[in-house]
Amino acid sequence: MKGVVFVQFADFIEENFGLLFWDQVLEVVDPPSGGAYTTVGTYPDEEFLSLLSHICEVKQLDSGDAQVMFGRWLFEKLHAIAPPGNKAQGDPFAFLRRVQDVIHVEVKKLNQDAILPEFRFISETDTCMTMEYISPRHLNRFCEGLILGLGDYMSQPLEVVHKQSILNGDPASIFDVIKKG
Ligand code: HEM
Repeated sequence: MKGVVFVQFADFIEENFGLLFWDQVLEVVDPPSGGAYTTVGTYPDEEFLSLLSHICEVKQLDSGDAQVMFGRWLFEKLHAIAPPGNKAQGDPFAFLRRVQDVIHVEVKKLNQDAILPEFRFISETDTCMTMEYISPRHLNRFCEGLILGLGDYMSQPLEVVHKQSILNGDPASIFDVIKKG
């Protein structure tokens, strides 16, 4: 996983639980990379998952809920480094299509080793978009968090309703993104 995610994860944990806690987490988990993450690096997914799982155990958090919290917080940071001309404005559903068709494509061009999810858009009305999330990482809940963060950023509250999850043995991960209010 790209270093930008690790660097932001460290910031997220420090902001919520303090620098001392993050240092303690690194000491206990003792990640193979040493934990001095940089935005230009790439680190094993397992490191992210072990850090997350340890934090959830200590703070008694559900791992899925923690992924949503982190994704929601992260959206603004990723949005800030999106290639020029890709600001979230207008319709949030159009922006989600742009993430798939433009933003993640550009990210992949610049970072050959990035693993980006694929979105398949199944149906769309004014208020509900049904989409499939495809990734070997199965970060469905992290994806949910990013979408909620998009809603926060655009002042358009969004809700993500999971209809199928590969994590529950379903053939695919499919969810509705619903505009609220
Ligand atoms: C609501 C909007 C977005 C959604 C739903 C979304 C979804 C995701 C998800 C789920 C991942 C985790 C990887 C995976 O599941 O395989 C990811 C990774 C990533 N996304 Fe997005 N994304 C969004 C916006 C953005 C934006 C604006 C950028 C700006 C450059 C961005 C750049 C990245 C990068 C750098 C990674 C890490 C790739 C890696 O570690 O290999 N995303 N995105």
